Amino acid sequence: MRACAMAHPNVALIKYWGKREAAANLPAVGSLSVTLGALRTETTVVFDEMLSHDVLILNGVEQPSEHPRLTACLDALRALSGCQFNAQVVSENDFPTGAGLASSASGYAALVTAAAAALGIDADEPRLFDIARIGSGSAPRSLYGGVALLRNEGDGTQIEQLITPEDWALSVVVAVTTEVAKDTTSRDGMEQSRLTSPYYGQWIATHEADLERAVDCVRNRDFDTLAELAEHSCLKMHSVMMTTRPPLLYWSPTTLAAMLKILTMRNDGVPVFFTIDAGPQVKAVCPTGVAGEVESELAGVPGVLRTITGELGYGARIVAG
Ligand code: DP6
Repeated sequence: MRACAMAHPNVALIKYWGKREAAANLPAVGSLSVTLGALRTETTVVFDEMLSHDVLILNGVEQPSEHPRLTACLDALRALSGCQFNAQVVSENDFPTGAGLASSASGYAALVTAAAAALGIDADEPRLFDIARIGSGSAPRSLYGGVALLRNEGDGTQIEQLITPEDWALSVVVAVTTEVAKDTTSRDGMEQSRLTSPYYGQWIATHEADLERAVDCVRNRDFDTLAELAEHSCLKMHSVMMTTRPPLLYWSPTTLAAMLKILTMRNDGVPVFFTIDAGPQVKAVCPTGVAGEVESELAGVPGVLRTITGELGYGARIVAG
């Protein structure tokens, strides 16, 4: 009853921020993401009748015994399989954890993939997407590679892979501006935004149109329009964050410097756009042919600690471990 899985984080081009139902972790809005092939989470799950509770060892450190989200995912999987055993989960990220690089997305995608295999649950079981979503709203997107689309559908969500990594040669350059974990988790922050930002209603009301246009851009490989839409979605989300009480200011001076560098490059004719999540890291999306140029420009921005560049990745999968 043991399996190991690998998943990549993803970054949303059309963002998710806010929930329509907290208990089932249902997002208020759909989202569209690219899978970051350069970053990896590897997770091994062992179900063992000798364990008195679920154990999580994250990046070599055993976590405090309460992990409600992890246990909720494992409970849902145990219910599907009929297994009653507790689990030991050993998870390693090869990138900073909890710092706006979507470690929870790759973490829960790898967890659900490994745990399902360890329990003998079919990898095609559609409920695995909902179980990953319990862990993190962005995690179902990391079950897919290339470009993933998550939509609200009835009283649930639906997910599809819009294109594979082979369909569009895109790369993502991550400008790492800190290796330190953030103070406010996305989960707490988005609930605070829903309760206090005067712009939250507008964010929800204008989101669907952005999503539909971005889907068309991906289908038509229209990079320039996608660039404009993705930056707009990112800045709209950050406007909601900034106008939350107390404010959620995830940017550092280096974040802004990297954004301005990317805008300057695009004005100079280089196809590239930025996106930023709940942290100060900047991700630049570009055709793979210009990734080297984008990487060296971002590496030269004062305050950028390092860059990580990679093509679009594949979905979560079982690996030898
Ligand atoms: C800013 O998926 O981490 O990265 O569902 O509460 O776990 P929970 O939140 P999470 O939020 C992601 C927010 C974001 C935007 C995005 O990835 O769409």
